[in-house]
Amino acid sequence: MTVTMDAIVSLCKRRGVIFQSSEIYGGLASTWDYGPIGVELKRNVKEAWWRALIYERDDIEGLDAAILMHPQVWVASGHVSSFTDPLVDCKQCKKRWRQDHLPKTFAVALVSTEDSESSVTIARVLAEDADEALKKIKSTKEWGSKPKGYWQVEGEPQLADPVCPECGGELTEPRLFNLMFKTFVGPVEEEAAVVYLRPETAQGIFVNFENVLTTMRRKLPFGIAQIGKSFRNEITPGNFIFRTREFEQMELEYFCKPGEKCKPGEPTDMDWWEHWKAERLNWYKRFGIRAENLRLREHGPDELAHYAKGCVDVEYRFPIGWSELEGIANRTDYDLSQHMRHSGRDLRYYDQERGEHYIPYVIEPSAGADRATLAFLCDAYREEIVEGRERRVLSLHYALAPIKCAVFPLLKNRPELVEVAQKLARDLKRSFFTVYDDTAAIGKLYRRQDEIGTPFCVTVDVDTMTDGQVTLRDRDTMLQERLPIEKVRDVITERLRQAWKG
Ligand code: GAP
Repeated sequence: MTVTMDAIVSLCKRRGVIFQSSEIYGGLASTWDYGPIGVELKRNVKEAWWRALIYERDDIEGLDAAILMHPQVWVASGHVSSFTDPLVDCKQCKKRWRQDHLPKTFAVALVSTEDSESSVTIARVLAEDADEALKKIKSTKEWGSKPKGYWQVEGEPQLADPVCPECGGELTEPRLFNLMFKTFVGPVEEEAAVVYLRPETAQGIFVNFENVLTTMRRKLPFGIAQIGKSFRNEITPGNFIFRTREFEQMELEYFCKPGEKCKPGEPTDMDWWEHWKAERLNWYKRFGIRAENLRLREHGPDELAHYAKGCVDVEYRFPIGWSELEGIANRTDYDLSQHMRHSGRDLRYYDQERGEHYIPYVIEPSAGADRATLAFLCDAYREEIVEGRERRVLSLHYALAPIKCAVFPLLKNRPELVEVAQKLARDLKRSFFTVYDDTAAIGKLYRRQDEIGTPFCVTVDVDTMTDGQVTLRDRDTMLQERLPIEKVRDVITERLRQAWKG
């Protein structure tokens, strides 16, 4: 089944997952609010990341650094001078584009056989490659009405200067645009008080490297992990929560020995890079993303930062095509060296075994919490026909499901059923997130919970009053089983626990 972004956006709006921000004022472009269901989903994604890194391993510490940092941090990191995107404007429709995101433009020209100096472009199209371009060009009206005579069409479509993808208008020369949001500390808006909203959480980790190393008595290798908001004044945000100006990152900086400082057989920086590629890919699979929708894409030399020894993107097959979920880079000793130089603090590590100081290398798996949430949503979404009716279901991993259990009375006009169901819901809430609902007929209640991915529904019916049993329904199989009411908590707890292990 092909999942469209429209289906996901519509489900999110309808079911309280994600709303357009400031909607009552007409919305603020590309900003989104997580509703009651979405906030749980994103919290669970972040919790799954945190647990896998901090609780299930013993070589990583957590951190929660401030969003506002000393402005010199961003000078040292290179963000002030080079965290820029090339911006172009359409001279005709005035739309603004990121030059490096523009689709390719191909053109075919007419050339004169007698006067080779003369040529005129007859058709221009946006296309991925020359073959596709030729097909498109042959269907344009310019092609159909090409002048005859001594002119002839030059065979192959040529890559041409980009034009506005919206109206085909001419574009301005690119201008470099810094993506950092500026704000002011204190009441006076003067240059001296300028600070930035952090464009990545990573720098909060680098500037705390020494604090964590010494207070936690760490030795290499070890990591520092952090989850938090980042801000980028993106030129072309869009595709729902895929690219926004305010987003959350889940970043790990894993400090290790540079290869040349390792003993024979000891894992080098490149071994740790390989380790983190496998770990991160497995994390997405463990929490439900199908292997066929994930891939690693290594950066070519033109994409690689000058200081990086390697970088790979974990990509997901989003409805918009294969796109980056997370980057995993070997950043060498670049960041710590830069902060040493700019702060004047010695951030070298003392290797007792070798009896020498050196700057650790860092492997950085850097993920987006919103992008991961979108990927989990897309991968879990299914539409199917059950007994002649359409069923939409989010088959989320149990650990990510916003609500774990919903309890219903079969008949809401029977106070004794309502009382038992409400009491059961209250009891279950103490173990996992449970809701009580009696606002519709049972079939509708099941469908609602299916759509937001609730793995278990429990129904209290008339027989419960005599046999003390309830019906437990499974979201994915829709199978129903009867079990004693006092066993519900243990059965669900055990299934949730098994899912975490799996
Ligand atoms: N410290 C390295 C760093 O920030 P990045 O590739 O720029 O690297 C890492 O960002 C991840 O953050 C991306 O893979 C993506 O998941 C997320 N991310 C970056 N920009 C984003 C945006 N504008 N909206 C949503 N997520 C974004």
